[in-house]
Amino acid sequence: MDLSSLLTHYRGKSFFLPAHGRGLALPNSFKKLLRSRAGIWDLPELPDIGSPLEESGGVADSQRESADLLGVDRCWYGVNGATGLLQAALFSMLRPGEAVLMPRNVHRSLINACLLGDFKPILFDLPFNANQGHAISLDNVWLRKVLEEINDNQIIISAAVLVHPTYHGYSCDISSLIKTLHNSDVPVLVDEAHGAHFSVDLKDVLPESAISAGADLVVHSLHKSSVGLCQTAVLWSQGTRVDPNAIRKSIGCFQTSSTSSLLLASCESAIREWRSPLGKSKLLRIINQAKNLFCSLKSCGLPLINNQDPLRLILHTAPFGISGFEADDFFISRGLLAELPEPGCLTFCLGFSYQKKYKNFFERNWTQLLKAYPNQQPFKPFTPPPIPLLIQPSINPSLAWRGKTTSVPLIKALDRVSAELICPYPPGIPMIIPGEVLDNSRLDWLVEQSHLWPEQIPNTLLVVT
Ligand SMILES: Cc1ncc(COP(=O)(O)O)c(C=O)c1O
Repeated sequence: MDLSSLLTHYRGKSFFLPAHGRGLALPNSFKKLLRSRAGIWDLPELPDIGSPLEESGGVADSQRESADLLGVDRCWYGVNGATGLLQAALFSMLRPGEAVLMPRNVHRSLINACLLGDFKPILFDLPFNANQGHAISLDNVWLRKVLEEINDNQIIISAAVLVHPTYHGYSCDISSLIKTLHNSDVPVLVDEAHGAHFSVDLKDVLPESAISAGADLVVHSLHKSSVGLCQTAVLWSQGTRVDPNAIRKSIGCFQTSSTSSLLLASCESAIREWRSPLGKSKLLRIINQAKNLFCSLKSCGLPLINNQDPLRLILHTAPFGISGFEADDFFISRGLLAELPEPGCLTFCLGFSYQKKYKNFFERNWTQLLKAYPNQQPFKPFTPPPIPLLIQPSINPSLAWRGKTTSVPLIKALDRVSAELICPYPPGIPMIIPGEVLDNSRLDWLVEQSHLWPEQIPNTLLVVT
């Protein structure tokens, strides 16, 4: 079967990203465009249309209107996902050799930007929930401790990155974290790839967005947390801490010079969708449905974890002696595709299409899953990464990545410097980055992780020679 046929014939309930639910939640205006004569919309940067980096034309006007709608100074549409815009954002904030403070759960795109730009990532550890087996959100007390260590070690940081919310939908008091960083005179980029919907003014229903919380730069992945096609994203900028010309220049390095007009129109329609009273009420309805689904599944005994994004449903399988991967395989065999399997949990992305009818489906399949795995022992708590609160790579990550390397079996990598990222996918969060040393505890932890993430962690590692 060719790829086009494969795409149209693909069946299964989609609890994965993109969040438009296989087209169901795409904005009507955009559906209309897709229904027009095939390919008629595939236009280059004609004078009337322009591109995200031009000052005039339809795209420039659209970006200005979107920025006005959100109450920020500027925005740029992206056609290379949050990945491309996060990388451009980091490049606009830093010069080679400068240090950037980032949480350990930062997406690999930002580590890759450090490798390319020769920026120094200063990674801080995060609170870890050992029963769930993943990092949870940080608070201001935690961040202050991190900044104290930065001061004690006389590290000069030139920019900071926050991730809000996490893949699992854990949010935090983003406003106070941004204030704390601003008080230290550091510009803040928030990777809000999973939180574009937070920017809709729905107080008491969704957490505050990093935009209203005053971040200097915010990146939204419009296919992950809005109703855009895959690869659509937007970078918002406000205030004077980051030079817009530097942003423009950097986007030019990370984005094609032939931006797809279809994807740009999708960016626009996704951003506009919830700004109308009708669109906003549609979003509210979806969120309320998701909340009701969570409550009714929980009252039926499904082990769901509380988070702050109602559209992310985390099934905690570990207490039942079932891994998220086993649960995922089981659900896939019944036509339900989740987004994020992990050793102790399985996360479903409900997306922005109608989900009311899924209650019975989830309930029935959970009961059958338990029957398929009888008499299991609950998993022991997972081991948190054995790393200090603050970690600087032992050698320059960029040099480690570009230098001479050799491949060694993971179990023989003791005291070697990694030359690569290890990032089970999803979620693309690095366990080790180039330039980090595998001491005893780190190596034991990685070997343990390699058993927990089947086929996702290679049994060899590229190390610096
Ligand atoms: C936190 C976070 N940031 C950024 C990205 C990259 O987003 P995109 O797929 O739009 O490039 C991801 C992807 O998984 C992510 O989880």
